[in-house]
Amino acid sequence: MKASPSHITQLKPKEPPEVMIHIEDLYKSFGENHVLNGFNMKLFRGENLVVMGKSGSGKSVMIKCLVGLMKPDKGRIFVMGREIGTLDREALDILRSDIGFLFQGSALYDSMTVRENLEFPMRRHSEKLGEITDTLPLVLEALESVGLAHTVDLMPEELSGGMKRRVALARTLILRPKIILYDEPTSGLDPITAKEIIELMRSIQEKYGTSSLIITHDVDCARVISERMILLVDGVNYAEGTYEELVLSKDPKVEAFFKK
Ligand SMILES: Nc1ncnc2c1ncn2[C@@H]1O[C@H](COP(=O)(O)OP(=O)(O)OP(=O)(O)O)[C@@H](O)[C@H]1O
Ligand SMILES: [Mg+2]
Repeated sequence: MKASPSHITQLKPKEPPEVMIHIEDLYKSFGENHVLNGFNMKLFRGENLVVMGKSGSGKSVMIKCLVGLMKPDKGRIFVMGREIGTLDREALDILRSDIGFLFQGSALYDSMTVRENLEFPMRRHSEKLGEITDTLPLVLEALESVGLAHTVDLMPEELSGGMKRRVALARTLILRPKIILYDEPTSGLDPITAKEIIELMRSIQEKYGTSSLIITHDVDCARVISERMILLVDGVNYAEGTYEELVLSKDPKVEAFFKK
């Protein structure tokens, strides 16, 4: 019998990382406005992927196609192995409960208290709660994780812009999503508050192991948070790499992103 020498550590072949989102050849036009022209993207499990593109380049359109809020003209989108375009309403709804979506702006319901805002997704996805009937502890835990437990009975108008963003993030976290989509998480915030939000995003990834797709045109945000970046230019994934790789690029279209 041939035994392998015991002093040699057997190296297991490295398993390819799990693909959480796969966008394949996405096209979307509005009349003559050809926004996405064959965009491709993969988000791997546990990573922070930043997609950068200038204003109007189609970042929000891409993310809306991703969650089924907008129908692409062509192309396929897989989220955790399920093809978005083939799902009926109910299946899409169940899949969406695993995806946290932080909309551009904070999009809190102005007529609801912070507590009611956080309870809203739980009511929509009551199947995720199982036996739980008292939702207040969950609301408080989510608020605690963004440092805002004391705002539970306040109205959105009583919060600052940064606080609203954090409450919206808490609302996203409450269903323990596997994937979080952030659309411009730092836009409209002062640099210090923006930094706090970025720190929060990092601590959430560490604590919950979520995979995050972060849409931004904030270069500082991208530098701090991204493990990998995709630049969306002319409707395609024009360049990909780490921040350090892209910042050294001599391609004029890539350089334009990093010029202050
Ligand atoms: N529902 C719609 N109907 C018509 N045109 C649309 C619609 N939604 C987006 N567009 C157009 O698609 C293009 C891309 O818009 P999108 O909102 O995706 O830009 P963005 O990259 O997210 O920009 P920003 O950084 O300003 O948020 C724009 O030209 C916009 O006018
Ligand atoms: Mg946008």
